[in-house]
Amino acid sequence: MKTSLAIPVEKTKKSKLSETDFSNLVFGKTISDHMFVADYKNGEWSDLRIEPYAPMEIHPANAALHYGQSIFEGMKAYKDAAGEVLIFRGDANWRRFNESAERMCMPELPEEVFMEGLVQLLDLDRDWVPTAHGASLYVRPFMFAMDNYIGVKPSESYRFMIFTCPVGNYYSKPVSVKVETTFTRSIEGGTGAAKTAGNYAASLYPALQAQKAGYDQLLWTDGKSHSKIEESGTMNVMFKIKGNIITAPVNTGTILKGITRDSVIQLAKDWGTPLEERFLTVSELQEALEAGILEEAFGTGTAATIAHIERINVNGKDYILPQTSENAFSKRILAELDGIKYGEVADPHSWIIKF
Ligand code: COI
Repeated sequence: MKTSLAIPVEKTKKSKLSETDFSNLVFGKTISDHMFVADYKNGEWSDLRIEPYAPMEIHPANAALHYGQSIFEGMKAYKDAAGEVLIFRGDANWRRFNESAERMCMPELPEEVFMEGLVQLLDLDRDWVPTAHGASLYVRPFMFAMDNYIGVKPSESYRFMIFTCPVGNYYSKPVSVKVETTFTRSIEGGTGAAKTAGNYAASLYPALQAQKAGYDQLLWTDGKSHSKIEESGTMNVMFKIKGNIITAPVNTGTILKGITRDSVIQLAKDWGTPLEERFLTVSELQEALEAGILEEAFGTGTAATIAHIERINVNGKDYILPQTSENAFSKRILAELDGIKYGEVADPHSWIIKF
């Protein structure tokens, strides 16, 4: 990708690269050398810069700390055999970022600022992009309020930043989930579709209860009737029943519009695999588990990629899913997505930017 914005760069005096163990990456713990920063003041984005990753000064009255005007994205970059860096569907992340911004009364971020900041940061830190299969550079763009004012109103100033982390798998093994029918993640008219900090904060307590009971994550149900499966904590979910893939629709404003979800739907269409975007009810799920016709269940997300589900608790009863065979849809889709992301198979939908 050709870049045209002249972004000033201050390079780190002490790279952490040589002290990083790329064979032992814990998700989100290691942060690369540099970060991209842009500030929004007086109605415009300015002062774009790349600087060493470092703590920053925040005023105790910072509005984001008090009222949560804070949004983020998650995306990943890969390296191919020739050493080129590949970014997967960055334009889709930029669009979703601005949808979150609109919902949270935050300013729109121009595509140029998002993409050029991203590409120039990744180009500078390209040695941080892992080469091993399964590993990648997780990219975290985010924006938060910068006004120092504790009245409740949209901030007038904001900061946009990107930093990156070399990562391995988010889930190192198949996951166990519990259908949640007491707590609510999201409700129509709420902020469920926005990638905003508060959604994750509100999910922590119920998720912790599930973890204490031995599950990795929750399967959230709709906030009104708790009868329809919506999504999992860090991913969208898909079920395969009698050859048919079923995943919740994302037009209710309650569910994150997953980019991995969208990619799986597109590939399923390309392959002619039947896939329905409709709500699976909790009773349908339980009936399918009782009848032994739930063939596969998996989460889709940027961090988690394709996460196989091995155990589901519904209405207090645990069900163990059959082992996924090599030919399972979720295994084939993971292999195809990985092939595209590492530049090993054709990219028919132009999802990759390479540099
Ligand atoms: C992602 O999949 O990128 C996410 O944002 C999930 C999580 C790590 C918060």
